[in-house]
Amino acid sequence: SQNERESLYIALDYAKKFYQEQLLQSDEGQSIGLSYFQERGFNRQTIQQFELGYALESWDAFTKNALQQKFRIEVLEKAGLSIRRDLDSRPDARVFDRFRARVIFPIHNVSGKVIAFGARILKADKNQPKYLNSPETEVYHKSNVLYGIYQAKNAIRNEDVAYLVEGYTDVISLHQSGITNVVASSGTALTVEQIRLIGRFSQNITVLYDGDAAGIKASLRGLDLILEEGLNVKLCTFPEGEDPDSYVRKIGGEAFRQYIKTQAVDFIRFKAEVLLQDAGNDPFRKAGVIKEMVESISKIPDAITRQVFFQQTARLMDLPEETLVAEANKRVRERI
Ligand code: CTP
Ligand code: MN
Ligand code: MN
Ligand code: MN
Ligand code: MN
Repeated sequence: SQNERESLYIALDYAKKFYQEQLLQSDEGQSIGLSYFQERGFNRQTIQQFELGYALESWDAFTKNALQQKFRIEVLEKAGLSIRRDLDSRPDARVFDRFRARVIFPIHNVSGKVIAFGARILKADKNQPKYLNSPETEVYHKSNVLYGIYQAKNAIRNEDVAYLVEGYTDVISLHQSGITNVVASSGTALTVEQIRLIGRFSQNITVLYDGDAAGIKASLRGLDLILEEGLNVKLCTFPEGEDPDSYVRKIGGEAFRQYIKTQAVDFIRFKAEVLLQDAGNDPFRKAGVIKEMVESISKIPDAITRQVFFQQTARLMDLPEETLVAEANKRVRERI
C-alpha cells in the first residue's frame, strides 16, 4: 500500500543518514570506510553527492539505533535493512543488520529517494560476495532500477546520450571526472524496463562494459533488447582488465571522452565482427552468423534504420544485400 511504501522510504532515508554519519563521524568509519573511498580517489564532494556511507563491524548497530528511534522491526525488515533469524514473531527474536563492515552505496530512484543499498566489502574475501545488495522489496524492484539515474538524468537529456556501465564505482568515478551522463545496470542483464527508463531522457545508449571478452559475448543478447525498443546503441570496449572506473583514473576525463568518441562502434557492426571472427572460415558457422545478424536487425522497429544496417552488414560480410533481406523475409513468413 501507499502507506506501507511511505514507511519504507522513511526507514531507508534514516538508514542512509545513519551510514553517512558512521562514515564521516565515527572513528571506525573514518579510519576504515573513509580511507577506503579516499584510496579509490573519491573526493568529499563525490562522497556527499552519492551519499556514500559505512556500516560498522557490528551485528546490530543500525537495528538497535533504529528501534530506539521507534522504527518498527517489521518495517526495518520489509525495507531489507534488518534480518530476523527465525520467522517466529517473538519480540525478543534475535535481530541483526543486513549490512555489516561494508562501505555503502545508496541506490536512488529517478526522483532521488533512496530505495535500496549496495554494500561492498573492504578486502577481497573468498567466503563473502564482493557486493551485497538489498533484497527485492515493496519499493525496490532490481530489474526496474538503474544506479545513478537521479544524478545523471539531466546530463543524459542535455548530451542526448546515456553511457551504460556495469558498476557503482564506474558511475561515481566518471562523474567525478566530469562525465555525468552515466548509469549502471549493476552487473545484471539489461531489462526492458531499464531501457525504457533511459528512453525517457534520450534515444541513444553507448554501452561501456568491462574489458573482459567473456562479459562482452554474454552481453550481446541483452543488447538486442535495446534495438527492439527502438533506441540506438553503440558499444565501446576497454583494454583487457580495465573497467571505466580504472580506465578514467588512468587517462583522465578529457582523454576518456575522446576515447569513446573514437572507439565507440555501432552495436550491429560490433556484433558482426565478433561473430565473424569466431566463425573463421567455416562456411556453416558463417551461415549461422548471417542468420544471427538478420535476427538482430529484424528487431529494429524503424524500416529505414533496418535498411541501413542490412546494407552495412552485407558489405561487411561480402554478400549481396538481397540475401540478407530474403532471409529476413523468409523469417517473417515462417512466423506467420
Ligand atoms: N555486483 C553485485 N554483486 C557481486 C558482484 C558485482 O551486485 N557479487 C554488481 C555491482 O553492482 C558491481 C557490478 O556488478 O558494481 C559490476 O561488478 P564488478 O565489475 O565485479 O565490480 P566493480 O563495479 O568494478 O567494483 P570494484 O571496482 O569495487 O571491484
Ligand atoms: Mn511494486
Ligand atoms: Mn566485471
Ligand atoms: Mn571496478
Ligand atoms: Mn568492474
